[in-house]
Amino acid sequence: MCSIQSVVPESYILPPERRPGQHVVPPCNTIPVIDLDGNRNELIQEIIKASQEYGFFQLRNHGVSEELMKDVLVVAKEFFDLPVEEKQRFYSEDPHNEGCRLKTSIDFVNEKVHFWRDSLRQNCHPLEEHIQQWPENPARYREVFGLYSVEVRNLGLRILDLICEGLGLETGYFEGGLSQGHMMSLNHYPPCSDPTLVLGLPKHGDPFTLTLLNQGDVPGLQVLKDEQWVAVDPLPNAFVVNINHMLQIISNGKLKSAYHRVVASNVARMTIVSFIRPSMDVLIEPAKSLVSESNPPLYKCFRFRDFSRTYITDTHEGKDPLEHLMIGS
Ligand code: OGA
Ligand code: NI
Repeated sequence: MCSIQSVVPESYILPPERRPGQHVVPPCNTIPVIDLDGNRNELIQEIIKASQEYGFFQLRNHGVSEELMKDVLVVAKEFFDLPVEEKQRFYSEDPHNEGCRLKTSIDFVNEKVHFWRDSLRQNCHPLEEHIQQWPENPARYREVFGLYSVEVRNLGLRILDLICEGLGLETGYFEGGLSQGHMMSLNHYPPCSDPTLVLGLPKHGDPFTLTLLNQGDVPGLQVLKDEQWVAVDPLPNAFVVNINHMLQIISNGKLKSAYHRVVASNVARMTIVSFIRPSMDVLIEPAKSLVSESNPPLYKCFRFRDFSRTYITDTHEGKDPLEHLMIGS
């Protein structure tokens, strides 16, 4: 799409009421920062508290090396810098194409306004089933992303274990179907000559289980907290972790899947997003041990596949994708 252009193309300009606006809470009021190195019980309390209040936290001392965190961003940039002919074979506008897929915006064919983002999506788990579909150019691509995806997945599973314990669920609750997949999105937000007219990504919640974001050092992510947009400024070498919709449902609303968005900027921004996701066949419902007569289930039981079908259209139409899953709706 849009490489550096002096004028923002019409099809990317949002109607005034959907533009990012200026009303962002100053960075001092930001999401919690948690050290993974700390005492286990305190760590669990901190993660649960942040997940209840914000649905988001930054994670430091997480064990993924600084070098690897930087390397994936460098190699991702090298990929997006390749000539169009080289990248074209990955390009697809089919939203149901689950393979390694390069796309621009979100749903280019069906959406009314486009978003200021290109992305490459790839499946990562099990690695040997997917790595052959990944780019071979840049030459280090498979090696660097292979190492990174294994480490990030292990980190994600470790956080889910801590959340499991913090919620008081039976050990291993998130193992198996609820964390079976790992999908990665390499997001490239090109420089924009007028960031006030566009968004990199509109307000959305992540539909899976857990997200781990490596956002490099260019700001852009904002989280909705108490009806206000809070900027999540980059913290060197940290992951931004957020609770996804399925985890909100399983926790029966105790943990929050917060809405977030990405604003564009005058400089290019590269982010690597890892989604730990359920398998399509898994049944999702509030955990039995978290519901009782005094704390009745808020959500119905459904198959993840059915939710993923309605999620995209609901999000396009500005509807809350969880609304029709609420009991009584
Ligand atoms: C996403 C997302 C944030 C970012 O891909 O779902 O919210 O900063 N990305 O790229
Ligand atoms: Ni997101």
